[in-house]
Amino acid sequence: MKHTKINKLITENIEHPEITVKGWVRTRRDSKGGFSFLEVNDGSCLKNIQVVVDHSVETFQKYASQLHTGSSVAVCGPLVRSQGKEQGVEIQAKEITVYGGANPESYPLQKKHHSFEFLREIAHLRARTNTFGAVMRVRNRLAFGIHKFFNDKGFVYLHTPIITAGDCEGAGELFQVTTLDLNNIPRVNGKIDYKQDFFGDKTGLTVSGQLQGETYAMALSEIYTFGPTFRAENSHTSRHLAEFWMVEPEMAFYDLNDDMDLAEEFIKYLFHDALSHCAEDLEFFDARIHPGLLENHRLICDAPFERVDYTKAIELLGKANVKFTYAPEWGCNLQAEHEHYLSETVFKRPVMVFNYPEKIKPFYMKANEDGKTVRAMDVLLPKLGEIIGGSQREDDYDILLQRMRDKDIEEKEYQWYLDLRRFGSAPHAGFGLGFERLVQFVTGMENIRDVIPFPRTPKNAKF
Ligand code: 4AD
Ligand code: MG
Repeated sequence: MKHTKINKLITENIEHPEITVKGWVRTRRDSKGGFSFLEVNDGSCLKNIQVVVDHSVETFQKYASQLHTGSSVAVCGPLVRSQGKEQGVEIQAKEITVYGGANPESYPLQKKHHSFEFLREIAHLRARTNTFGAVMRVRNRLAFGIHKFFNDKGFVYLHTPIITAGDCEGAGELFQVTTLDLNNIPRVNGKIDYKQDFFGDKTGLTVSGQLQGETYAMALSEIYTFGPTFRAENSHTSRHLAEFWMVEPEMAFYDLNDDMDLAEEFIKYLFHDALSHCAEDLEFFDARIHPGLLENHRLICDAPFERVDYTKAIELLGKANVKFTYAPEWGCNLQAEHEHYLSETVFKRPVMVFNYPEKIKPFYMKANEDGKTVRAMDVLLPKLGEIIGGSQREDDYDILLQRMRDKDIEEKEYQWYLDLRRFGSAPHAGFGLGFERLVQFVTGMENIRDVIPFPRTPKNAKF
């Protein structure tokens, strides 16, 4: 018989002569009066459905010894108004099947509360907890919202390659891809002979789809990529993964202000969308994980983001009445502590910092007339820090070439990229949003390892 998702039964909240649900037992409680009460969850929503089983039900007798926390079941029977105080519905089981038991001696999810550290060790089972079910439903909605936002605006979803020869951000964080025999590496004059490698070239996993995205923006006007990106950076923080998902819109005929407008509209849209489609899960996060979360989100949805020039930001940090670990100096990257100070103490809202020094930014950003800064922007969120990095791109052939030479970038390898400035060049801009950081912010989860199904971090690619 076809089964119904628990989510549908709970939201509709109407009685039914006979339905079937399938899911996993969260708890079992036996009463003295010859009944068992099961809480069953199928992941379609946070709530469980209560199943009442009379011990005289034939199939209960057959399966009783296997019905424990963690078992998978099918339950069939009428859906009736619950006697409990919540005025919901419950199933009076007429028939019950256990597909697979879960031995209480060995099934690890017995307690109501497990630490996130413990759950990371059993990432294959943590999906069966309230928190991880909620995280993944919110993550799913945010991914859907991203596609909806851009498609409604007429952006084209572009699939950029995972394997590439270029290091877009120039930070040397490429994971290498090779089929060379590591025990017998071919060399010419002491140097590795990549001609013999699979692609005949040194290749790696992409750190960003931006450069390829630009080629299609210069034809389709507005595109976005949304896919996995990889960075071999040895960061052990609650904000970094070695494999993360990034959304990268790229737009022809946009300048830096247009870029910032889009970034702000995008973030606000995603919050609204999640608030209206994941209300139950977000209320759970607000109550159990991050008190005040929903209030914060509403503030972000309503107030305009602050926009501040990098030079001004450094000035504000210089005047701050706090002792930073890293002194804020013009020409240095903003550290997490600086980002937090700006968004949490100075402005108390999301902040976009723009016009960064040329020296600390990649080669492709458009130079300002001052000769010192480039049209870069970062979006900083309170408590989280950087969620978006973007820029207007250098569209002048000669200036771009000069910047590549200054930064020791192989011209030959980027000839295709330079061509975009030789043929029909146009002002254009874009940004990258770290998807897991977005999920972190929306759910209030502390650690980025807990918002992706299987986190990849230094020394950890288990599962
Ligand atoms: O600031 P980033 O490095 O910018 C770029 O890659 C540009 N090519 C984007 C563009 O203009 N199209 O990265 C963009 C965002 C960061 O703001 C951050 O949210 C996220 O990607 N990010 C990470 N998220 C998780 N783990 C990491 N190791 C991350 N590195 C960057
Ligand atoms: Mg960045």
